[in-house]
Amino acid sequence: MFSEINKLKKEKNAIILAHYYQDADIQDIADYIGDSLGLSQEAARTDADIIVFAGVHFMAETAKILSPNKKVLLPDLKAGCSLADSCPADKFAAFKKLHPDHLVISYINCTADLKTVTDIVCTSTNAVQIVESLPKDQKIIFAPDKNLGAYINKKTGRNMVLWNGACMVHEIFSLEKITKLKNQHPNAKLLAHPECEANLLEIADYIGSTTGILKYATQSPATEFIVATEAGIIHQMQKANPLKTFIPAPPNNSCACNDCPHMKLNTLEKLYNCLKYEQPEIILSEELIREAKKPILRMLELSAQFGL
Ligand code: 13P
Ligand code: SF4
Repeated sequence: MFSEINKLKKEKNAIILAHYYQDADIQDIADYIGDSLGLSQEAARTDADIIVFAGVHFMAETAKILSPNKKVLLPDLKAGCSLADSCPADKFAAFKKLHPDHLVISYINCTADLKTVTDIVCTSTNAVQIVESLPKDQKIIFAPDKNLGAYINKKTGRNMVLWNGACMVHEIFSLEKITKLKNQHPNAKLLAHPECEANLLEIADYIGSTTGILKYATQSPATEFIVATEAGIIHQMQKANPLKTFIPAPPNNSCACNDCPHMKLNTLEKLYNCLKYEQPEIILSEELIREAKKPILRMLELSAQFGL
């Protein structure tokens, strides 16, 4: 399957971009693996004719918005996102009307429609810096993730109005089971994504994006880590640090680790088929691309200024 995919990739001048939450084999065949910021930067700069996006719908949509003349394929069009779904653009537009003097910052994990009513997009890598770059008295609405929003409020001392959305994967961690794990592994560092709830973030040793978590684990002298984000990231953590131990943080159900059901809809076979038949393809109207692009470009400009 790997050699067939590589052959098709060459023939069609295609590139495979994969998020860290994808299955290990998808990560291993990808040309670029990254977090949401890295993936959008890569989608904007590639000169491939076809982008196969091994991730979820909002990520592939962002790639299409940034590279509208390229064919953008998503191995499974049903790979959505509970966080993006938690903020329908029409309901948000009504909410925005209640706060007319507020600027809108939206986490990139939202639909293209939501991006059209957003002033600046952010990711977990640049969110704090983007908020801090605005005047202290600037009123802000943050959407759609209330957990990331609350974390930024705490870090920056701001009082952003938060949309009540959340990610099903990061909200399901069991504080009780994680506390037990910490007691069993007293030297282990707890690494958490800021989409997690505040009570979990309070006991974390490090809070950051997937790239941040990977870097922290690689640079830290510690040898044991409890990882409170989607378990797919552990593949790269283990590859970069073969002698260190990574324990997935347990959710409050009977599973041992936490998979995103949307991310995991993509399989190597679907990836092969989508490259072969050049579908399913992300199609967006010109108007949607034009309007949704503005807040994404603002984020990319600011990220470049921050050296990210
Ligand atoms: P990052 O990889 O940008 O930290 O995002 C995490 C996530 O939930 C993506 O769906
Ligand atoms: Fe969406 Fe959460 Fe899955 Fe990321 S992990 S794609 S935010 S549901």
